[in-house]
Amino acid sequence: MTRPEIDKFTGTETTGHEWDGIRELNTPLPRWWLWTYVACCIWAFGYWVAMPAWPLVSSYTHGVLGYSQRAVVAADLAAARLDRAPQTERLAAMPVGAIEANPELFGFALAAGRSAYLVNCAQCHGTGAAGARGYPNLNDDDWIWGGTPEAIEQTIRFGIRSGHPQARDSAMPGFVADGQLTELQARQMANHVLDLAQGNAGQPASAKLYAETCAACHGDQGQGDPKVGAPRLTDRIWLYGDTRESILATLTNGRRGVMPGWQDRLDDATIKQLAVYIHSLGGGK
Ligand code: HEC
Ligand code: HEC
Repeated sequence: MTRPEIDKFTGTETTGHEWDGIRELNTPLPRWWLWTYVACCIWAFGYWVAMPAWPLVSSYTHGVLGYSQRAVVAADLAAARLDRAPQTERLAAMPVGAIEANPELFGFALAAGRSAYLVNCAQCHGTGAAGARGYPNLNDDDWIWGGTPEAIEQTIRFGIRSGHPQARDSAMPGFVADGQLTELQARQMANHVLDLAQGNAGQPASAKLYAETCAACHGDQGQGDPKVGAPRLTDRIWLYGDTRESILATLTNGRRGVMPGWQDRLDDATIKQLAVYIHSLGGGK
């Protein structure tokens, strides 16, 4: 072996490689860098073996420790549920009407009810519960089916025209389609409904036809009847719109708004939390 040459400008050994008179200096990596690199490699190998690392065709290598973020979240959720279990159990055992009298449970039910509302109800009733055409506003104190905590619970539990045997059921008949009213009479009734909404008594002839045809469900004064889900006609709160055309369409073909029941989808405590939350939105009937 020949002794390595020393480069006379830098004082560093050369490797002995030379290209066109240019010689390669031998400047190895610092030891500390090399050892750090080796340590990192060993760490990486260990990590691959211990933790989930490599994607496979339809799965991945799980690692010998079996760590999974999904399992961690599930465990956290289970812990949170356990934390709330005493409150949830007390809620489930209590009639909804009594929950509001208990400040601690009431606060808990409101918060939980609000988040359950956003997940299950907002797509139809709106994030702020203001409703839309055909979907009632839940913020006002105008209730088609009753606004006590118990009535609201029943609506949520079994739904409206949902097909459940205990669901709230009834219908606005399609008077013209059924041949019970002529188109002319329907137009007369639409005008009468607009009169009622303005607080006017309307034409005597129309009032007579109303008393014969509509009062059984909507009440003799148009005050509505929560037993059959007939909306109050004397306010300016409309489920299907305030135009003559939409009222005429209601009278011609009828209406049957459908709300699903939640009995089979949500547990008892959640349904009560929702009832308490919805009740708190209205004026507190
Ligand atoms: C698929 C759409 C839909 C979803 C989801 C839905 N609703 Fe409804 N809801 C309706 C419709 C439509 C009505 C009105 C039915 C009618 O015409 O009487 C209604 C009516 C109601 C009423 C009666 C209002 C009154 O004035 O009496 C309450 C209370 C109510 N919903 C609460 C809820 C709650 C709480 C949830 C979530 C658990 C929910 N709704 C989810 C469509 C829906
Ligand atoms: C068998 C009971 C029944 C009778 C009779 C009846 N209605 Fe109704 N009416 C209802 C129900 C129930 C609804 C709500 C339908 C829904 O929620 O989808 C309704 C809804 C309406 C609406 C829509 C209200 C809104 O807020 O958009 C109008 C308007 C109306 N009825 C007018 C009349 C008039 C006028 C008559 C008489 C010609 C009449 N109804 C007879 C049960 C009845």
